[in-house]
Amino acid sequence: MLANKTIVLGITGGIAAYKAADIASKLTQAGARVEVVMTESATKLITPLTIGTITQTKVVTDMFEPTSEYSLEHITLAEAADVVVIAPATANTVAKLAAGIADNMLTSTVLATKAPVIIAPAMNDNMFQNPVTQDNLAKLKARGFTIVDPAYGRLVSGKTGWGRLAEVETIIGTIKQVLGKKGDLAGKRIVVTAGGTLEPIDPVRHIGNRSSGKMGYAVAEAARDRGATVALITAPTSLPEPVGIEVVPVQTASQMKEAVAKAVAKADALIMAAAVADYQPKAVAEAKIKKAAPTLTLELVRTPDILTEVKGNFLKVGFAAESEDVVANAKQKLQKKQLDLIIANDITSAESGFGVDTNKVAIIDRDGKVDNLPLLTKREVAEKILDKVVELLGKKAGR
Ligand code: CTP
Repeated sequence: MLANKTIVLGITGGIAAYKAADIASKLTQAGARVEVVMTESATKLITPLTIGTITQTKVVTDMFEPTSEYSLEHITLAEAADVVVIAPATANTVAKLAAGIADNMLTSTVLATKAPVIIAPAMNDNMFQNPVTQDNLAKLKARGFTIVDPAYGRLVSGKTGWGRLAEVETIIGTIKQVLGKKGDLAGKRIVVTAGGTLEPIDPVRHIGNRSSGKMGYAVAEAARDRGATVALITAPTSLPEPVGIEVVPVQTASQMKEAVAKAVAKADALIMAAAVADYQPKAVAEAKIKKAAPTLTLELVRTPDILTEVKGNFLKVGFAAESEDVVANAKQKLQKKQLDLIIANDITSAESGFGVDTNKVAIIDRDGKVDNLPLLTKREVAEKILDKVVELLGKKAGR
């Protein structure tokens, strides 16, 4: 989604300026055109040569550069931008923007742009907490700027506090979220589940499965990037928490059911990518089970079937992890669970299903239409599922 987008990256003179090189690199690698504007103090901390070599674009630093090829460069950049991102933003630049001051190329560009502006402040914690800085940030927020709050951690002063530049992934996630606001899922609420539920046996053991959560997270992020408001109900995974998504952590199938039931109020679609345990131990031992007899029998009882039990006027999308008769079994599940769509995947293939980054699926709708997709990344599969969701939501609205 960053491909062919023009991102104006503003770098100001905070010690975190070096991290802007990483941001510029990741955005460029994702296919964006990154136009960089640095304040004079930023150039003392990281050179325009470093940044320009990464982005392969001309870095602008001086408003009055006599050799400049564009005489009104701030206007050109302001108009070309799909989004303006300032990372790091110093207290000084934040104050100037709040006051409408345009005394350098960056502040002039921001004043002249109609594109959304994202500010990632980074500074000493006292400067950040100073009421004047907080007032300035609140003013910018009220004017529609997106603020990526700084993180807590070690600061250059040696102290720990709030003021570190947010993680690069958080800043990039916010850029995607802001760019996605005009996407085809804008105004829609999508609930996604992910990961494999864990059913406790005793305080230290559980029954689990091999789901990594990657498919569900890819669906949630793709929906966010297309403008949806997303709630992600997730069983434990080792994936980083996605930005701009309401994340509800759960462990068991019962907890997932409760969280889904709450989240689907006003939802347009529920996409159940989670691998929900079908059985749970009948009783959870209060103390750790000691090793004694040569065999141990656990009595298991059925968990709630979330897709079947959760009711409402939203699209229901299920997954069918199958090891044989993939399409036929998936069609049966679609019927039985009264779904609008089912995504069938063959978990016996090494490059598809659990744990890996790719998936080979068939998307089956209510009318029995089967769309066999080639091997794709999970993100690509997510986009295909959402294409179908958009189509079905459109039909539903037209009825
Ligand atoms: N699912 C659910 N609640 C459960 C079990 C599964 O909502 N207790 C959902 C899954 O998230 C998935 C779909 O139902 O979207 C199908 O899951 P799957 O495990 O393939 O099917 P089951 O109904 O559990 O049938 P079986 O295990 O017998 O194949």
